[in-house]
Amino acid sequence: MERKSTYEIILERRSIRSFRSDPIPEEHLRKIFTAAQRAPSAGNRQPWHFYVVRNYELKQALAEAAFDQEFVAQAPVVIVVCADPERSAVRYGERGRTLYSIQDTASAVMNIWLTVVELGLASCWVGAFDEARAAKALSLPSHLRPVAILPVGFPGEQGRITPRRPLEEIVTFLD
Ligand SMILES: Cc1cc2nc3c(=O)[nH]c(=O)nc-3n(C[C@H](O)[C@H](O)[C@H](O)COP(=O)(O)O)c2cc1C
Repeated sequence: MERKSTYEIILERRSIRSFRSDPIPEEHLRKIFTAAQRAPSAGNRQPWHFYVVRNYELKQALAEAAFDQEFVAQAPVVIVVCADPERSAVRYGERGRTLYSIQDTASAVMNIWLTVVELGLASCWVGAFDEARAAKALSLPSHLRPVAILPVGFPGEQGRITPRRPLEEIVTFLD
């Protein structure tokens, strides 16, 4: 089968909120985290840590921390992307702590998500959750801030391509 271009993957990506229970092959997980590892970060500080949650009780606790978004627990794997703000702050101060560490982890999230789609898997970026509750459920060290929950699995629905604001509204050319 012909390999899809990155651009095609970007256009195809959509939020999926229903998953089959089939496990994710280990080599897929390795590819996913290698993609996360390659994300850019300010000063190459790599202020992130990724938790792979497969234990059902822990997945359930994350779904509850996410205000009962049950599809989180349904996925065979839940990736919790954590920022390590102080890793950026030691070099860049407040800008590193509050901006770069968040931007860096967001770029890692997108590397993960696009790789997930390339592998025929699906995900949804879950950002609505109680951080303290999620951190407690996973016994996270205090220097890590959970910033995104990504349930990952083979899709249980097609999902849909959602609308976007027109380019004319969001892009300004200054010639
Ligand atoms: C920062 C962020 C937080 C989000 N949080 C949630 C969430 O808690 N639950 C959810 O179902 N979708 C969540 N989404 C997914 C968005 O609803 C979705 O990306 C948007 O509607 C566009 O749809 P698409 O991803 O299918 O293109 C989040 C997306 C982002 C980027």
